[in-house]
Parts: sequence; C-alpha cells; structure tokens
Amino acid sequence: MNINKIKNSKNNFKLIVITAYDALFAKLFEKESHMILVGDSLNMSFAGKPDTLSATLDQMIYHTNAVCTGAPSAFVICDMPFGSYINKDEALRNCIEVYSKTQAAAVKIEGGEDRADIIKHLTSNSIAVMGHIGLMPQYVRSEGGYLVRGKTAEDIEQLVKDAKAIEAAGAFSIVLEGVKTQAAREVTQAVNIPVIGIGAGNVTDGQVLVWSDMLGFFEDFKPKFVKRYLMGGEAVRKAVKQYAQEVQNGIFPSKEEEY
Ligand code: KIV
Repeated sequence: MNINKIKNSKNNFKLIVITAYDALFAKLFEKESHMILVGDSLNMSFAGKPDTLSATLDQMIYHTNAVCTGAPSAFVICDMPFGSYINKDEALRNCIEVYSKTQAAAVKIEGGEDRADIIKHLTSNSIAVMGHIGLMPQYVRSEGGYLVRGKTAEDIEQLVKDAKAIEAAGAFSIVLEGVKTQAAREVTQAVNIPVIGIGAGNVTDGQVLVWSDMLGFFEDFKPKFVKRYLMGGEAVRKAVKQYAQEVQNGIFPSKEEEY
C-alpha cells in the first residue's frame, strides 16, 4: 500500500489498520492490513506503564525498526512520543531522525488546530503525517482522564475544525479516537482525507485497533469499543500450563524432539 492508494481509499474501501510493536506480529498482520501503526500504546501494553507519556523517541525508533523488518512491504507509521513535537523545529528534527533511522512511511502526531502549524511545517518538509484527534491519550494528565469527545454541538464543531485544520496542513489521514458516532460522522464527512476510527463507531473510512486488545492479550480491562477476536491470554496460559505439566511428567521432550 502506498500513500496515494491510502488517500484514494475514501469512499472506495475501508482502511484496515492494526498496531504492532515487533517483527513477529508485524509479519502476521502485514497481509490483511493496509497500514501498521507502531503506536506509543506500546508503553502500556509492551512496557507495562500506566500511560503513554513516558515513551521515548529511542523506544519508538527501536520498535519501528523491528516492525519494518518483520513487514518490509507494509506502510508503517511511527507514533511520535509525547514531548517530541513541542515546536516546529523540534518536531522536524525528531521526524527526520525517525525517517533516517527506520523505514517508516509516515509519522503520527496528536492534536488538532493547536498543532496545525507543526503539521504544516512537517508536510512542507516531505514528512508524511497522520493526525490524531478526539480522545488523545497524550493529553490524559492535562485533561484528567480518557474522556469521550463529541458529546455536545460545540465539541463536534471543534472536532470538525481540528480535522479541517489538519487536512489543510497537509496530513494524509486522521485517527479519530473515542468520540460519539454522530461526531465521527460529521468529522468524516467534513474532510477529503480518510478518517480512521477507534471507538468512533462504524461511520469512519477505516478502523484501527491495538493488537493486544483485539487479540485478547491485554486483560486488565476491556474498553467498550474493543472486540476481542481471540482470547490470546487464555490460549497462552493453557499452552504454558500444558508445557509445565509435560516437563514435570516427563512427556516433553519426547523421542520426536530428540537429536
Ligand atoms: O498508540 C496507539 O496505539 C494509538 C492508537 C490507539 C490509534 O495511537
């Protein structure tokens, strides 16, 4: 998938996006997805931290490299971590570092109208940018929680303004997270670039899910918008239990596993 096909997907086909943090899973997701996002959600589900805010640029580059290696033909997006795009110059320097140290096709930046000038600076310097508006996990501490957006006419209006500002700044797509379905509908219709929803109902131009949520490996809690397509945690526990029992009982290794 290349960036032009992604842009042209609007009103033609739904974009399938999934996160990955390593080569093994990236390889498994490559065929069925149009884009693989190396989300800073890795700080929670991979590194076990309470939020995404302590993810570092080095961490994102390390995981983006692993994903690009595992899925060499995928359109891979590197999520820019908190604090790495506080102004235009810092943002450009850090995005260039991502481009020079990985094969990422694009970067993702959280923020709407407030970040449009930064996005414009990046896109004018040949960085492909995916926006991210609605519920923005990097704002969790300043907003006092993960708050669903688009509940009032004013907030829907703001989300539409954010999406239009990001589009005008040259972003090729937008992630829209944690919003009421009516808000998602209005935002999706307001712009000509694809809007990829997560917790935004079935009215966007595509969907993104965090791999460990959709495969049931993250079990601490299940957000309402997540569908588990596999009970990964259960399957792993069962397999590990069987391995432990077989070692205890002398069943593994058998003649078949011997040299
Ligand atoms: O970090 C992440 O995985 C994300 C998705 C939730 C879109 O930003």
